[in-house]
Amino acid sequence: MGRLYFVMFYAYILTLLSQEIPIAAYMLTSSQSIIDGKTLVSKGASFELGFFSPPSSKHRYFGIWYKPVSVQTVVWVANRDSPITDTSGALKIGSTGNIVVVNQNDSVVIWSSKSTSSNIAVENLIIELLDSGNLVLRDVRIEDPEKYLWQSFDYPGDTLLPGMKLGWKSKTGMNNYMQSWRNSDDPSLGDYTFGIELTEYPESVILTNKSIKYYRSGPWNGLQFSGAPDMSRNRVFHYELVHNPDEVYYIYKVTDPSVTLRVVLTQTSTEGHLQRFTWVNQTQSWLLLVSIPRDRCDDYALCGAYSTCEVMTEPVCQCLKGFKPKSPQDWNETDWSQGCKRETFLNCSQGEGFLKYTGVKLPDTTGTRVNRSMDLEECGVNCLKNCSCVAYSSSDISGSGSGCVMWFTDLIDIRQMDGAGEDLYIRMAASELVSESKSKGKELVVIIVIIIAIVAAMVVLALGSWFFLKKRRAKGVHEKEDFELPVFDLVTIKSATSNFAEENLLGEGGFGPVYKGKLEGDQEIAVKRLSKSSIQGFSEFKNEVILISKLQHKNLVKLIGCCIQGEEKMLVYEYMPNKSLDAFIFDETNSGLLDWQKRFDIILGIARGLLYLHHDSRLRIIHRDLKASNILLDSEMLPKISDFGMARLFRGDQNEANTERVMGTYGYMSPEYLIDGQFSVKSDVFSFGVLVLEIISGKKNRGFCHPDHELNLLGHAWRLWCEDRSMELADESMIKSCSVQEVLRCIHIGLLCVQKGAEQRPTMSTVVLMLSSESVALPKPQPPGFYVDRSTPMREISSYSDKSSASNEATITLIQGR
Ligand SMILES: *[C@@H]1O[C@H](CO)[C@@H](O)[C@H](O)[C@H]1NC(C)=O
Ligand SMILES: *[C@@H]1O[C@H](CO)[C@@H](O)[C@H](O)[C@H]1NC(C)=O
Ligand SMILES: *[C@@H]1O[C@H](CO)[C@@H](O)[C@H](O)[C@H]1NC(C)=O
Ligand SMILES: *[C@@H]1O[C@H](CO)[C@@H](O)[C@H](O)[C@H]1NC(C)=O
Ligand SMILES: *[C@@H]1O[C@H](CO)[C@@H](O)[C@H](O)[C@H]1NC(C)=O
Ligand SMILES: *[C@@H]1O[C@H](CO)[C@@H](O)[C@H](O)[C@H]1NC(C)=O
Ligand SMILES: *[C@@H]1O[C@H](CO)[C@@H](O)[C@H](O)[C@H]1NC(C)=O
Repeated sequence: MGRLYFVMFYAYILTLLSQEIPIAAYMLTSSQSIIDGKTLVSKGASFELGFFSPPSSKHRYFGIWYKPVSVQTVVWVANRDSPITDTSGALKIGSTGNIVVVNQNDSVVIWSSKSTSSNIAVENLIIELLDSGNLVLRDVRIEDPEKYLWQSFDYPGDTLLPGMKLGWKSKTGMNNYMQSWRNSDDPSLGDYTFGIELTEYPESVILTNKSIKYYRSGPWNGLQFSGAPDMSRNRVFHYELVHNPDEVYYIYKVTDPSVTLRVVLTQTSTEGHLQRFTWVNQTQSWLLLVSIPRDRCDDYALCGAYSTCEVMTEPVCQCLKGFKPKSPQDWNETDWSQGCKRETFLNCSQGEGFLKYTGVKLPDTTGTRVNRSMDLEECGVNCLKNCSCVAYSSSDISGSGSGCVMWFTDLIDIRQMDGAGEDLYIRMAASELVSESKSKGKELVVIIVIIIAIVAAMVVLALGSWFFLKKRRAKGVHEKEDFELPVFDLVTIKSATSNFAEENLLGEGGFGPVYKGKLEGDQEIAVKRLSKSSIQGFSEFKNEVILISKLQHKNLVKLIGCCIQGEEKMLVYEYMPNKSLDAFIFDETNSGLLDWQKRFDIILGIARGLLYLHHDSRLRIIHRDLKASNILLDSEMLPKISDFGMARLFRGDQNEANTERVMGTYGYMSPEYLIDGQFSVKSDVFSFGVLVLEIISGKKNRGFCHPDHELNLLGHAWRLWCEDRSMELADESMIKSCSVQEVLRCIHIGLLCVQKGAEQRPTMSTVVLMLSSESVALPKPQPPGFYVDRSTPMREISSYSDKSSASNEATITLIQGR
């Protein structure tokens, strides 16, 4: 038998050799074709092409898909609008020197590339599938990409692959844009397109029906798109908008070759989305990283002209300062589309100036004018000179900023950016900038009016703040120079807390005791009296507090002021009537008050707050002491993270570093942090994971005991997970109210967060995504860090003071010898 097989194999090889062999398996010569059922694989086996049918369709299309990705993911289709109804299709080089898809039976050309006519003999042409996913037609003798006769990268489908250029070539006027499939089963041209809008200050836009703006990214400001979240710091990919006399295009590159990324424009029955996915080998599925539009404020011109959109406010649309709704009735009924108009109309002859807005997505750039060699000051002067210039800004914010962009039309689609955005200067009537300047006549040069306006504004400001201070001082609050945060007198704090009376003590945190207080006017506050160990001086401390007070998010406790007097340093927070999370989840009677929905909302809230600290805020704060007692609950049981920024107040502000001083709480600290003092956002993710498992189980990680084993809570959760008994972890007091699927998913996410290796843990943005969307597949967790608590070398530290006591939960500070 064996010999027979050998002979057959040998014969087969011989027949192969006797055929005409293509130049290489990933190329196609003019005499060859690819028929339905056969495919061609790129040299490095990253892409494959051939005929396919979408999931629930019988139509045949010619396309390119990933070779190593187990879920067929088509990135490009030739005959999008002309499907073949049977399997008689073939792809080859046509007699005109184009790539064609034909029906073999009747040789009807179904689709053809449009290569620029050339005088190269058809015999010399080849089709090649490159490892980038680019299908090219070229002269067999010339490999230079500049000389390709045709390439699929010039005709994107719904997918943008790394290295593809999206945008304009000025020589040919050619514009590459993406166009969605009609739906996931139909590659025909859909309603949405994504491309670059060619203005003097280009931006990327999603259009519907190729003409109606649906979303705009905001212009490219040298670092990023003005209205897109800041992704410049990631290590996986890099993107930019290239702008030169020949071309304007958007391109992205993947810097880590092991990562597979794609950007795809999708269409559902009601909306379109631009989404970025990465392939997760472990789960064999695509993980959604970003989906645009992200929120209501991303809807183009939701608020009309001269207004700004802010997701966190209600209503989301607000007129700009000095503007009022055009149609108050519609505005009231949440139809903001008519936008706002000026309260005082501009009159160039009467002098005008500018109002500065910070942290905004710049308005629609249609009709803008850019001068890249002008600086901001000149820009303002030039804008002022031209009566139809309504706003200006720096065109490039990299470095210390440069360039000038001016707007001459209504300002549309401004939004407030969370921790990003730019400065925009909007023209205002002088009378809006300062009330009594109307009498200043035409005889004055505009500039002089402005100077006067500024001086007058300062006088008004000074007067205003004098009155303000006088009023505030009566209440025991005073403000110093540039101090934006209220500073309280020690006397005020003492009287508010009855001189730090014992009965007002709310708790003892790691950084000092917290007292409840009541200001005059009955405002309730919580005062944190910082322990004296803070190493910072007065002004350093003050600056830090001001910075931290600027962090605002609904899942962070609001800092309303501070008090610094002599040795005393205190922070004044809003008071949270429901105290902290540990008073509920670990308490037999109170735990019944938290049903599953509440617990889930708490988990999600904490995740969002942490995401804000890690990624969205200006400061990129690592909490370093996340634990149940640092999660406060407001009257609606919404979670608010407290003590954030403490690490900053007490130490430097490195993002990822080694520290000689480990701050944190046993049971919540990640292995790399406790052992090596190495902290990063991933050490917070670890603490978050512990917190999730605690919220679900109602048990403390630290001091957890179980009759069957010596494991801590993490180990216990891991063991149950491995034995497929995860539901046994859930707290009995919420079991009735819970959705088994959700609980299991949260346990799964909790386990992913406490994995031993920091790099294996997800980032908070992934966690929030996993929590908010059930369609996001979860990878399989690895064993957690520190789960065999009592038998590791960590034994001594972690079993220290095991009997629970008040100080047991306190934050520790270890100075590590190194
Ligand atoms: C193509 O030819 C085959 C065999 O001759 C036949 O079975 C098939 O129906 C034909 N298809 C078309 C589209 O004509
Ligand atoms: C695009 O235009 C078609 C018809 O012209 C219309 O039916 C469709 O709703 C439009 N799509 C969108 C998203 O506006
Ligand atoms: C993907 O996972 C499979 C097993 O699931 C493994 O054999 C393969 O090497 C992995 N590929 C990469 C690129 O990590
Ligand atoms: C808008 O609504 C508020 C309350 O809903 C009402 O007091 C106000 O008069 C309304 N304004 C207009 C212009 O309709
Ligand atoms: C601008 O102001 C001047 C002087 O007050 C006045 O004569 C002129 O009519 C105004 N123009 C507009 C458009 O209001
Ligand atoms: C741009 O600004 C520079 C510096 O002010 C000026 O010299 C130049 O003429 C301007 N270019 C245009 C096209 O206005
Ligand atoms: C002001 O700018 C507009 C738009 O660029 C231009 O058309 C107009 O000529 C300018 N006016 C003056 C006085 O420079």
